[in-house]
Amino acid sequence: MPKVLISDKMDPRAAQIFRERGVEVDEITGKTPDELAAMIGDYDGLAIRSSTKVTRAILDAATNLKVVGRAGIGVDNVDIPAASAKGVVVMNTPFGNSITTAEHAIALMFALARQLPEADASTQAGKWEKNRFMGVELTSKTLGLIGAGNIGSIVADRALGLRMKAIAYDPFLTPERALEMGVEKVDLDTLLARADFITLHTPLTDQTRNILSKENLAKTKPGVRIINCARGGLIDEAALKEGLDSGHIGGAALDVFVEEPAKASPLFGTPNFVSTPHLGASTSEAQVNVAIQVAEQMADYLMSGGVTNA
Ligand code: MLT
Repeated sequence: MPKVLISDKMDPRAAQIFRERGVEVDEITGKTPDELAAMIGDYDGLAIRSSTKVTRAILDAATNLKVVGRAGIGVDNVDIPAASAKGVVVMNTPFGNSITTAEHAIALMFALARQLPEADASTQAGKWEKNRFMGVELTSKTLGLIGAGNIGSIVADRALGLRMKAIAYDPFLTPERALEMGVEKVDLDTLLARADFITLHTPLTDQTRNILSKENLAKTKPGVRIINCARGGLIDEAALKEGLDSGHIGGAALDVFVEEPAKASPLFGTPNFVSTPHLGASTSEAQVNVAIQVAEQMADYLMSGGVTNA
């Protein structure tokens, strides 16, 4: 009977599915890398969220490991080249938390448009600063999507429902798909020049790192508001801070940071800056979805060699 370790907190339905499919499962979370390395040799599968770092050292110790399943989208916490070299299949669940993450981007867009966190803090401090918080409407504004895949396309759909215009920069977006989505496909410079709001929905790769660099931030429309629920490292955080301080950037909302956990960012305390602690996938619905999906995919692979998402 194959044996799987669930090493991050995961909805109990994952363990239930493994057992129903004939896979033995242990749920042991919060281990140090050394502790994990000491135990990983017993397992055929490792199911993780974002806390466990599947490094080369862990993979070297994983003498029986056949599959790593990430309950979520990003696999940045897995050393993919090291896993591939060992023949370990790495799977993710690209659809389970897309709606949830898209909704978080929309929530942050509203938060920026109406300065909700600052207005809330001020009101609860007893200030009643009705004249301080003049917002902007979303209707008729242009939303620039950097990345129009699973999550970006849902954000576009919701934005169109809010009567925004949606433009997208995504080298993988075909004209047919753009038409189907109701978005205008543009190049990056056009997006930077035209968007009132910019939202990022792309993985962090060599091509996308610092896509909102100092140079590109300087090309944005004055007053632009920027949302990042994708990955830290897509925006130059120092340049973003400069842009907010100068007033060129009207607001920024980050759910993700270059360094996480972000406990002391220079951005903290900047006016018109909103942050959340990588909550993009944090809804009960999404966590159930990704737990079910990762367990089904891993059980398929371990029991019959079937690969549905690697
Ligand atoms: C993901 O990659 O699925 C999200 O960023 C969620 C997470 O890492 O917690």
